[in-house]
Amino acid sequence: MRANSRDELMEQSNKSGFNSKLGVILAAAGSAIGLGNIWKFPYEAGQNGGGAFLLVYLICVIVFGMPLLMTEILIGRKAGKSTFSAFRAISGNNHWQWLGWWSALTVFVITGFYFVVTGWCVDYLYEATVNSYAGMGTNELLAHFTANTSNTLKMLICGIIPVLITAAILWFGVSSGIERLSKILMPLLFIMMTLMVIRVLLLEGSGTGLRFFLAPDFSQITPAVVMTAAGQCFFSLSVGLGLMITYGAYMPKDQDATKTSFIVILLDTLVAVLAGIIIFPAVFAFGFNPAEGPQLVFVVLPAVLQHMTFAWISGVFFFLLLFIAALTSTISLMEVIVVSIMELSHGKLNRHQSVLIATAVICATVAVYVLSMTGVWSGLKLFGHSLFDLSDTLVTTFMMPLSALSMSLFIGWFMPLQDKDLVPYSQKRYKQWLRPLFIFTLRWIVPIAIVLIFLNGLGIFNL
Ligand code: PHE
Repeated sequence: MRANSRDELMEQSNKSGFNSKLGVILAAAGSAIGLGNIWKFPYEAGQNGGGAFLLVYLICVIVFGMPLLMTEILIGRKAGKSTFSAFRAISGNNHWQWLGWWSALTVFVITGFYFVVTGWCVDYLYEATVNSYAGMGTNELLAHFTANTSNTLKMLICGIIPVLITAAILWFGVSSGIERLSKILMPLLFIMMTLMVIRVLLLEGSGTGLRFFLAPDFSQITPAVVMTAAGQCFFSLSVGLGLMITYGAYMPKDQDATKTSFIVILLDTLVAVLAGIIIFPAVFAFGFNPAEGPQLVFVVLPAVLQHMTFAWISGVFFFLLLFIAALTSTISLMEVIVVSIMELSHGKLNRHQSVLIATAVICATVAVYVLSMTGVWSGLKLFGHSLFDLSDTLVTTFMMPLSALSMSLFIGWFMPLQDKDLVPYSQKRYKQWLRPLFIFTLRWIVPIAIVLIFLNGLGIFNL
């Protein structure tokens, strides 16, 4: 039955390329590694005390990132269904269907936001190609970013281009093309980042930035830092919105979920740390402010790239890789929307029709976000934020943690834990500890940690 439903989903979604174990790992790593690591992580670390943020972030990754990623993969593999229907499929009743809706809604809210920022990469890929930032100093680079992102038409075009590219990829199916491409591009991203690390470490005064990022100042750990780091952990690992459930559904039955989660987490964390090691020494060497905010990476990277050998081609190449890293994440986000539409229509809509509907809806969301930032609705503020900013804060600090909390309660307390498909199980002696640890973490540690962080963020409870 399980295998059948998986086959069905595979067939429906035309994902021929993800049959291999490596394919699943690459797809999951591709979803995890993206703008969250290279753009969001450094600017959040910069605003939240550098090393202190890194430390809290790493603790969050171990405490909830790992168990939640494993849970999502296991739920998906057992259900053979996407996020939207997996909870019903596993529990056999409708009580948990709201979680399917909630996850789908979360994906929807974050997708538009993600495409807007991917649009900034498209813009910078163009800027790098025409070499527009060559020779610019610190203040000019800052002004350049503001001018670019306040150009409504440009931002609309740049935001919609990646939607159309993602839609085209999903239209033809996430076939072996992406798998083969990722096998080449992911290692290239690592190589490129390593070269940039070397270049940055040779800059005069790089030690200050390194210390800022790697040496934690414990007095900087505040409730806001913990909340932001936890949110970033969900965002960066793509957990807490059931996305990995959909990927788990495509996973071969004999694939080790623990190992897969571990590799994905390791790669994702490595890219985030590398990004920090590139950004912070440069921030201090070039006189930027580490707490600059969302523009940080877009102003610092061009400054670094100008100092690389073969500056022009290095810039083009780097922004291309960044764009592709973003694209493997947008593919995963849009894939969930497409499959949810298909499941919602009970098979009446086929993949192509669902892709068209998803494209139209996402383009509309991108337009709303862009207009809320720069255009006619920029005066419109909810809780003091533009819609664009609000979507990010809402998703990372509330929607993702809430679905992660519900998922851990669902598996930890409401599902039969003797089920070998839902809880990691190994016959190897040395791995026997994994199962009780997993169960304990999911039942107690994850829910308590998330509730404490919530209460803390709301000011009801002080850490
Ligand atoms: N994890 C992705 C990144 O770090 C973003 C993402 C979040 C993708 C949620 C899918 C789902 O860029």
